[in-house]
Amino acid sequence: MVWPRRKGVSRLLDDVDYIALDIELLEDLFYEHPLFDADFYIKKGNKFIFYRKRELPITRERIRAWKDMGVKKVYLKVEAFEFYPQYLQGRLSHIMEDPCYQVERKAKILYLVSESLLERAFRELDEVAIKNAKVFVRDTIRYLSDVPELYRKFMGLMEHDFTTYLHSNNVFFLATSFSLHLGMPIKEVEKISLAALFHDLGKERVDQKILQKPGSLDPHEWEEIKRHPIWSTQMLKEVRFSDELVLEVVEQHHESQDGSGYPKGLKGDQIHPFSRLIKVCDVFEALCGIRPYRAPFTPERAVEIMQTEMEGKLDEGVLKEFLAFLGYESEED
Ligand SMILES: [Fe+2]
Ligand SMILES: [Fe+2]
Repeated sequence: MVWPRRKGVSRLLDDVDYIALDIELLEDLFYEHPLFDADFYIKKGNKFIFYRKRELPITRERIRAWKDMGVKKVYLKVEAFEFYPQYLQGRLSHIMEDPCYQVERKAKILYLVSESLLERAFRELDEVAIKNAKVFVRDTIRYLSDVPELYRKFMGLMEHDFTTYLHSNNVFFLATSFSLHLGMPIKEVEKISLAALFHDLGKERVDQKILQKPGSLDPHEWEEIKRHPIWSTQMLKEVRFSDELVLEVVEQHHESQDGSGYPKGLKGDQIHPFSRLIKVCDVFEALCGIRPYRAPFTPERAVEIMQTEMEGKLDEGVLKEFLAFLGYESEED
């Protein structure tokens, strides 16, 4: 059975039929490029208003004028989006290798490109989305290894809200940077990065009311949430993603060291080390993010919760390294 994905998409994204482009991306990646042959819309309230005719050249002056008018995002119709990820990747390598761009700017562009790729994958997971993700992961790891200062910059860039694709984007950058910081072999970092990108895809199939419920969940709702790691792996298999290791890591991302996690209640060494690593990044990001039932925690408070209230759930060795990676001293030091 093909799951009716598009029905649920709107709960995780701005809108089903339009894709948002950050105006800053536009400036660096698209101006005066013939491939960018699409009408633009802007959003006013819940309405999309026609803004730019496709024939109109996108010049720096025009983008600057839009910015001056307060436009932060422009929107494309989904149909116009097909070639966008491939195009982005081509332009991206150009920018990453250009010494004229500052490290901050490179990090921001990388972050925005990744966000767009994830938005596309969450909107429609298909073989194209998987292929783009694989190429992107390989490129990103290369950029991050070449310029290690880049991964310090992502912390300040992370946008926190309740959308799963932004959360996934943040977890992707955290897990990739952290793995590189640990000096892991590139082949292993690639697996971790892919698993981090796709770990929460299955939330697409969780009822919107449950995901956005302001209060605590009843046992039935909780059961539904607990299915999302399995759904993530199922969705990947449905588009012929066959890397068994990545699938295993995705499925285990909510398992806890003390056996209290889900879906299988695995313990300690039964949990794949990559899942333990992603779990630490995932928990940290989730605590710092906005949730319908609570305000976001500061990174300092998030770290404190991970060390105290979550004792026994996270891999202690990984947590210690993660705190060092973030620049915190762990308690016993
Ligand atoms: Fe999850
Ligand atoms: Fe997550």
